[in-house]
Amino acid sequence: MELFDSHAHIDFPRYNKDRNKVIDRARAEGVRYILNCGADLESSQRAVKLAQEFDDIFAAVGIHPHEGSTYNLEAAKKLQDLAGSEEVVAFGEIGLDYHYDNSPRDEQRQAFRAQLRLASSLELPVIIHSREAEEDTIKILKEEWDPEDGGVVHCYSSSAEMAKKLLDLNFHIGFTGLITFKNLEWLRRIVSNTPINKILVETDSPYMSPEPYRGRRNEPARVKEVAMQVAKCHNLTMDKVAEITTQNGLDLFKIN
Ligand code: NI
Repeated sequence: MELFDSHAHIDFPRYNKDRNKVIDRARAEGVRYILNCGADLESSQRAVKLAQEFDDIFAAVGIHPHEGSTYNLEAAKKLQDLAGSEEVVAFGEIGLDYHYDNSPRDEQRQAFRAQLRLASSLELPVIIHSREAEEDTIKILKEEWDPEDGGVVHCYSSSAEMAKKLLDLNFHIGFTGLITFKNLEWLRRIVSNTPINKILVETDSPYMSPEPYRGRRNEPARVKEVAMQVAKCHNLTMDKVAEITTQNGLDLFKIN
């Protein structure tokens, strides 16, 4: 069995003491690929470095909506340089977060639009973060993004209607440990209604630990719990879900 954790942040300092062990545990659980995503310039640099160090780790670079106000021409230039590394297979994570509003919304929207254009010019698929910003996310994607270029909306926790609109725009949907939470039956219904060939599994480590590890630091090995839940929702075997979702990731991120 080979799993693909399509979204993790194991470059974060929280893993400085045991990063190699975390990677070893993932391998022991059958995690064959990890996509480490950037959240700002610094973590994007660390993501590339990590991917250069480990054959089974790939990188995405980009500026998270929380840091949207730090996006400028200089940052764009640095991201573009980083994206030149062969280990970079996607642009992200980028998007809108109106839950925390850590950056002013108009600056988030500007950074999102600019980075979608940059990703497109670099011919990279995008990794989208969208929280409590459904309308603007869809509007901007429709205006700025060519569905042919592909992408994933990660850590999905929005409505069924939004999922449908994203699928119509050729997006994949990334599911985390959230789908194992007892009280989120509505989210499992969205998993069931998402075609299996459009699903990616992810941990979003260090966040979103699945049951029964809820509240603790997450790690890529636990993408297995997410895949198990997808298997239940689709009435498939775990092996089949691993095979399909891993292939989905390899195809979307053009990894051979
Ligand atoms: Ni993330």
